[in-house]
Amino acid sequence: MTLNTNASKSVTDALMTRVTVRDFLEKPVASDVIKTVLDTARRTPSGGNLQPWRVHVMTGGKLDSFRDECYAKLMSGDMEQMTFTPYPSPLWEPQRTWRYKLGEDMYGLLGIPREDKAARMMWLANNVKFFGAPVGIIITGNKALEMPQYLDVGIYLQSLMLLAREAGLHTAPQGWWRSWPDTARKHLDFPDDEHVLVGMSLGYGNPDAKVNDLIADRAELDELVYFYGD
Ligand SMILES: Cc1cc2nc3c(=O)[nH]c(=O)nc-3n(C[C@H](O)[C@H](O)[C@H](O)COP(=O)(O)O)c2cc1C
Repeated sequence: MTLNTNASKSVTDALMTRVTVRDFLEKPVASDVIKTVLDTARRTPSGGNLQPWRVHVMTGGKLDSFRDECYAKLMSGDMEQMTFTPYPSPLWEPQRTWRYKLGEDMYGLLGIPREDKAARMMWLANNVKFFGAPVGIIITGNKALEMPQYLDVGIYLQSLMLLAREAGLHTAPQGWWRSWPDTARKHLDFPDDEHVLVGMSLGYGNPDAKVNDLIADRAELDELVYFYGD
């Protein structure tokens, strides 16, 4: 058990204890706690102050009906056209290796071997259940957004993730939700000129779940950071 479930006391602590949690407790999150996280995240900066995100927060029956429909579609192979492809193809090095290693480390923890493609696929389907989280978030944005606004949305996501830690919560950012734009449009209220950018699971992380012990590798400081000057 390595998942730190204490509330964070500092930004460093929030950053260091945040991990992508892929197994949540059923315990609901009080609505005022959810609102405080979202209210504080309004202070996220964005280029030109565009605040290009629109945030759809689902709980209870609303969340269940959304994820149930996506799950049923997934199981029947009735896939939708995803909003964006998740990665450049082909991916180059070292990113390719880092991505591969993440998968190996995660499935290694879960005890699912590489050859067992069916079990890996089934496990991946936990994405569609928001990993059992009591709060499911979908972020939409205008289809005409430019690359800088996608950066803004990333910053916003990080605000949510760190604020969640401060509230004793955990998160899973999920590009996965770009695969279900039609069902999202059916269940949520957003105009035709918007589409799904990303999603996020929010809730109390299960400290007893093996998958939550995953500490994904990071590059060393000198691999990605270059200091110039004296
Ligand atoms: C924008 C974004 C989208 C992601 N999408 C998914 C996803 O769909 N499913 C998933 O299991 N993890 C997803 N992740 C989690 C990454 O795999 C994870 O952040 C990375 O491996 C580093 O691990 P850590 O978050 O535990 O530190 C996503 C992360 C980000 C930032």
